[in-house]
Amino acid sequence: MKNIAVLTSGGDAPGMNAAIRAVVRTGIAKGWDVYGVQHGYAGLMSGDMRQLGQRDVGGIIQQGGTILGSARAPEFKTEEGRRKALRQLQSRGIDGLVVIGGNGSQTGSNALSQMGFPVVGIASTIDNDLYGSEMTIGVDTALNIALEAIDRLKITASSHQRAFLLEVMGRDCGYIALMSGIAGGAEFMVIPEVEVKPETIANEIREAYRRGKKHAIIVVAEGAKYNAEALIQYFKQHSEVVGFELRATILGHIQRGGMPGAFDRILATRLGAAATAALARGEHGVLVGLNKGQITTTPLSEVVKHKKQIDLSLVELARELDR
Ligand code: F6P
Repeated sequence: MKNIAVLTSGGDAPGMNAAIRAVVRTGIAKGWDVYGVQHGYAGLMSGDMRQLGQRDVGGIIQQGGTILGSARAPEFKTEEGRRKALRQLQSRGIDGLVVIGGNGSQTGSNALSQMGFPVVGIASTIDNDLYGSEMTIGVDTALNIALEAIDRLKITASSHQRAFLLEVMGRDCGYIALMSGIAGGAEFMVIPEVEVKPETIANEIREAYRRGKKHAIIVVAEGAKYNAEALIQYFKQHSEVVGFELRATILGHIQRGGMPGAFDRILATRLGAAATAALARGEHGVLVGLNKGQITTTPLSEVVKHKKQIDLSLVELARELDR
């Protein structure tokens, strides 16, 4: 291997820069030239890339987002799009690629790998919904942002005896909603994996009110069937049964824009180094991730086949703790 390229794709995640830095520096240490591709697969198809040196990745470990830029690139889902990308890589003599991203990005990296190009994926998404890594880059920072929102809402909710509904990110996965709810002592979490009816939530909130609670916090994942919009409508129509006055906050992209915390910086650094190590020993077509505290590799073909499951025992635990 002589030259490698690195790109970030899909939703940005705090820690992506730490991963880029680790890929560049460990790649250069192996004697390779390392190219940074701008704007994910879109830049790969148009050949928007440049060589990165040690200094180009100085001072970025603490920055959120991605210095390479990211994009969602529908054209890359077509075979013609992927062939364009391969032509760009081959014309520059690049013989290895590192893709930092989540489900959509690793579906793309698996497709390139199936076409015979050496690719290693790095598990990165704030949703933590990628099979092959118990934790993905960015989720810990995003979780702490959601948690801070819960803590702040609790203060004002208690002062006014109100219920607050907080919608957090998570298109298909309730990880942020469930974990921030547990860490923040929320009264109810609504996640895509477990369907609950609005009347069940209303009953729980009314019961909390009867038990003497001064506030009620409901954390909702955006991908839940009854998301913030649906629940606000229901609560408006049934305000008499709830007992609390309700206010809603949609946290949105604020969760993605944070400065990465220590966990994400360290995870990203370890995964970045593991990606170049895998390429150096000739292992590719894999995702590098974290499992049981160890850095592991999982075939990309397995990663794209499986849906990561949320630990449902934590849903039970959350219910027991809400007293
Ligand atoms: O990156 C994951 C994620 O933040 C999801 O939680 C969310 O549904 C989606 O990306 C939003 O994507 P976009 O920024 O393209 O609107």
